[in-house]
Amino acid sequence: MSEKSVKTISHSGCDGLTGEMTFPGDKSISHRGLLLGSLAEGRSTLTNLAPGEDVGRTVDCLRALGVTVVEEENKFVLEGQGLRGFTEPKGSLDAGNSGTLTRLIAGILATHSFTTEIDGDDSLRSRPMERIIDPLESMGAKLDSREGKLPLVVTGGDLQGIEYRPEVASAQVKSSVLLAGLGASGKTTLLEPGPSRDHTERMLEAMGYPIRVDGDRITVSGPHPLDPLKLKVPGDFSSAGYFIAAACLLEGSELTIRNVGLNETRTGFLELLTEMGASIELTSSEERNREPRGDLVVSKSDLSGVSLTEDQVVKSIDELPLLAVVATQADGVTEVRGAEELRVKETDRIKATVTNLKNLGADIEELPDGFIVRGRSKLSGGRVESFRDHRIAMSTAVAALVAEGETELVEPEWVEVSFPGFFETMEGLLHG
Ligand code: S3P
Repeated sequence: MSEKSVKTISHSGCDGLTGEMTFPGDKSISHRGLLLGSLAEGRSTLTNLAPGEDVGRTVDCLRALGVTVVEEENKFVLEGQGLRGFTEPKGSLDAGNSGTLTRLIAGILATHSFTTEIDGDDSLRSRPMERIIDPLESMGAKLDSREGKLPLVVTGGDLQGIEYRPEVASAQVKSSVLLAGLGASGKTTLLEPGPSRDHTERMLEAMGYPIRVDGDRITVSGPHPLDPLKLKVPGDFSSAGYFIAAACLLEGSELTIRNVGLNETRTGFLELLTEMGASIELTSSEERNREPRGDLVVSKSDLSGVSLTEDQVVKSIDELPLLAVVATQADGVTEVRGAEELRVKETDRIKATVTNLKNLGADIEELPDGFIVRGRSKLSGGRVESFRDHRIAMSTAVAALVAEGETELVEPEWVEVSFPGFFETMEGLLHG
């Protein structure tokens, strides 16, 4: 058996995080730019796409479906095929680690009258797919699975619009149904149980599609040509989150972050940090391609614990493991409840977060649907794991920077799923 890789992380001898930085493109917007661009009438150009493995899988899957995607210097050029213009792939599509790719592309494939198998890695094979199987089947597609899990075999055709209220507030489920609705006859209405990220809706609007958003009711009305995209993807707020957190926690920090996505369905973590007392200044903002973006200055802050509302849980879902890390350094109690979705992400993120932070000496209690952190705790180095989850690897790395002594992080390479170069970027700023 091959040895697992280990990275040693320590903060000794470093100042806080200082300097100025930009982040790789937003992963959610990148997936959507590629997928929606492939459905447009004509050529789209996408710059600053997310560089990680997940988005690379989307490019590969689109190529397997007959879409021409060319990488030129720092941009991707893709030839849209119209709403139902994919061709039948030769083999199974490999979605790797990406739930977003799987669920969104299944919605598009549901409108194509051929059969496609979608498969992925062990993590993706363990994640629930009934949440998209049910609505796509009620629209008229056929989806065979291994008891609600991958491999998923999608046979599409002529769909009929539906009105649907998912049980979970999930942008992946919402987008899957809306994308199927683009190729269906009649109206498809999605009733959102919570404010999940709205990049799909914004992008459709930017492409000239007559989408209707009326509070929590989102309606698409079948085929309508999509204008090609000229998209400059903003920096990924979730990737920036690790640096924002580290700057709040490490003495001597003053970090400027430029051109980061500030869509408010994504920035729940910023809202929470501000409530906790963080010093974060928004120094400029603009909207491009219907997506808000701007610059932030973050400094070392004294923080207090926070309790989250249901909406805040949805708007900060990917940053909750990181919030737990920050909470260990805040005075008082931080409580996260209603976040059972964390158990079905790339790993069980509640268990992974609690295990790693306990190993470093934090006072954290596991709940069925979240956790309670009692701060502040003095963390000390220990042995922790990525659990083969990019976000657990990066949030635990931030904890390791706060801890005294050395921390060994097992299987750190999983950061590559969304942020290749994460450790080098962090080290560069710490020693800058
Ligand atoms: C994503 C939606 C979220 C998020 C994931 C990316 C997306 O998942 O956790 O990292 O791009 O639509 P859910 O929509 O299932 O909550």
